Amino acid sequence: MPLTLGIETSCDESAAAVTDGPQRVRSSVIATQHDLHALYAGVVPEIASRAHLQRLTPVITEAVRQAGVSLSDIEAIAVGNRPGLIGSLLVGVSAAKALAWSLDVPLVGVHHLLAHLHAPSLDDGEIAFPAVSILASGGHTAVYHQTGPLEATLLGGTIDDAVGEAFDKAATMLEAGYPGGPAIERLAARGNDRAVDLPIARLGKDRLDFSFAGLKTALLYAVRGTPTGRGRQSVFPRSIADCDADRRADLAASFQRCAVSALVDGVERALDRTEARSLCGGGGVLANTLLRSRLEALAQSKDVPLRLPPMKYCVDNAAMIAGLGSLLVSSGRTDGLDLQAIARSPVGDAA
Ligand code: KG4
Ligand code: ZN
Repeated sequence: MPLTLGIETSCDESAAAVTDGPQRVRSSVIATQHDLHALYAGVVPEIASRAHLQRLTPVITEAVRQAGVSLSDIEAIAVGNRPGLIGSLLVGVSAAKALAWSLDVPLVGVHHLLAHLHAPSLDDGEIAFPAVSILASGGHTAVYHQTGPLEATLLGGTIDDAVGEAFDKAATMLEAGYPGGPAIERLAARGNDRAVDLPIARLGKDRLDFSFAGLKTALLYAVRGTPTGRGRQSVFPRSIADCDADRRADLAASFQRCAVSALVDGVERALDRTEARSLCGGGGVLANTLLRSRLEALAQSKDVPLRLPPMKYCVDNAAMIAGLGSLLVSSGRTDGLDLQAIARSPVGDAA
């Protein structure tokens, strides 16, 4: 298994890592850009790609140093090349091509979402397949049936917002801070999760899809009241300034309970419908403590082993890219220097 340098720049984290094969992580370095995007309460693509340009080279140097190797020891370069923000992806893909060419080692493009699903095996052992896998991040929310690390069939996905995006919007409405997920989690810890009646979308008993737009709108109305008028003319009777600290915490806790319940319900139905030797998860929202404990309870009740990555491998990182990349390289599936950055790419295109 090759000593692989992984590069990840699909959104707002500039990350590099070195792995010894698919599971053994030698180093993982992440430079977040939260400071740059906080002002806008969301990722600004142009700012993100410029920051990657500035930060990526020192991050790569540091990942190689922390791995205790030198660049000339690297045997393969893996890069997250799809899906993501196109300008951000291009920075990582260009750096990866330059390194692969100058070191004369194989290059491989890695699907970002499959890499998230590979994360539970990092610093641990291989996943037992078939698996039911939940992916919940800022851009994606879906449940898959996986028969191997590179084979995932979509069972259901969100029909509107990703759950991480809903957390981020909720944090903006409650002026809780940025990034939204951890901010809502902190605020919710002081709140009563039954205080506010918010909806949990169920899209019919035969569907495994998710919806978070209704929950988001219900939270907006709970914060600001029901508006009069339509569209741009609509006027809300209240503002967030009318919510005291206790009310904000209750709203955050109620929102978090509903968002997490929607995810766990979907996973439960997926487990009931398919053969699974493990229940896996990946993506930034899996850093949420309530979600992790609810999945643990579910896995116990269904008698299936739960495989969740530690927090550092839930959010965007390059160890998951290097790990999955080394698996691809060792099975001969490398790419040429014509490797493209691709903004949209369903998991079905991954293999
Ligand atoms: O996987 P990730 O780092 O980037 C994407 O590929 O999107 O996920 C980022 C998302 C953000 O929406 C962030 O608010 C959410 O994960 N997130 C959380 C938590 N930590 C990060 N959501 C809920 N609870 C958390 N503790
Ligand atoms: Zn991600």
